[in-house]
Amino acid sequence: MTDAVNPASSDSSLRVDRVDLAVDADVAQWTRVRNEVGLALLGDDAQLTSVEIVRAMAQRSDQVRELYLARDAGQVVGAGSFLLPGGPGDTDAEVWVGVLPEGRRGGVGSAVVAAMEARARELGCSRVVLDQTSPREDGLPGSQFCVEMGCRQSQLVLGLRLDLPVPAEILTPLQERATSASDAAYEILTAWDEIPADWLDDRAHLASELSTEAPDAAIDHDGEHWDAERVRTLWLSRLAGGGRAVESVAIDRATGQLVAFSDLVAYASMPHVASQSDTVVLDEHRGHRLGLAVKLANLRTLAEELPDITAVRTWTAIDNTHMLAINRELGFRVVEWTRMWVKEL
Ligand SMILES: CC(C)(COP(=O)(O)OP(=O)(O)OC[C@H]1O[C@@H](n2cnc3c(N)ncnc32)[C@H](O)[C@@H]1OP(=O)(O)O)[C@@H](O)C(=O)NCCC(=O)NCCS
Repeated sequence: MTDAVNPASSDSSLRVDRVDLAVDADVAQWTRVRNEVGLALLGDDAQLTSVEIVRAMAQRSDQVRELYLARDAGQVVGAGSFLLPGGPGDTDAEVWVGVLPEGRRGGVGSAVVAAMEARARELGCSRVVLDQTSPREDGLPGSQFCVEMGCRQSQLVLGLRLDLPVPAEILTPLQERATSASDAAYEILTAWDEIPADWLDDRAHLASELSTEAPDAAIDHDGEHWDAERVRTLWLSRLAGGGRAVESVAIDRATGQLVAFSDLVAYASMPHVASQSDTVVLDEHRGHRLGLAVKLANLRTLAEELPDITAVRTWTAIDNTHMLAINRELGFRVVEWTRMWVKEL
């Protein structure tokens, strides 16, 4: 443990401390709390993590990620994560807090938020963004907590699940439509476990586009800087966390440029569930069903190369109507509602 970030008053036994990643027992405790909170909230739809993933993510050189543990009278009761997705100097801190069910309504969640808010101020951030998930459409009860923390809701994201295999009667007509729209002008290629070196620059450009293009209006991000090295770092961190990654791209045959991508990753902590992280099509190449084409290519690769995976999870903003339409056509169904809550500092 490092120093307490918000030492509690002397008459309280509640402490919130930043986790020292070199202390295995604390990383393990953090992982346990994260998984127990997720299971209590979402059951089978919880995204389970592992010590390897937590460590790999916290060690990514392109981001700042810190973990916090709350202890009451020495017993771990809650946890928090603090992320500057764009690395040092990012002005938005993305935070998550979870309290073990038996430790709730005693001020633990508030103390963890206060500690991370203090850290955000210390690092010069102008906002914290709380990431809150619920199996209920109205977000309760976690949404009430975020309101109490002084946040305003900025974004609603649907957590979706697709059970595999997708029936042929859904897949075949979609495949025909995607192929007829994209075949002549674009080539669809898929890589897994390692990204080809000659994709890196274009892939970085696509990631930068995504950070400004995906509907995120209420948060009003400035966009993130991505370069080839950052894409490589992302892939290496997934492998370090025991992940298997699949990525499909669309290449414009006229220029050889990557103009769309979609990626999936499955970790050993959830060997049967792949999470789809990002999908983007460059503005000038939209309208050719490339988003659908790269998603279908990923599903084909899962079926052929990683047949143990029986479900795909993804998260789509409610105002991203086009992506939601594609996901619904594929058969994704809503299993959770995730809200982003902003607090101006
Ligand atoms: C949300 C969560 C972190 C709250 O932790 P907690 O330690 O119970 O929070 P606190 O005791 O500091 O609550 C502060 C205030 O928030 C509100 N609040 C918290 N939990 C609430 C609930 N279940 N229903 C209604 N209001 C609630 C109350 O106003 C509370 O003050 P009060 O107890 O004096 O009435 C915890 O329930 C949890 O881990 N939930 C699952 C994960 C999650 O939703 N995390 C939020 C993501 S940012």
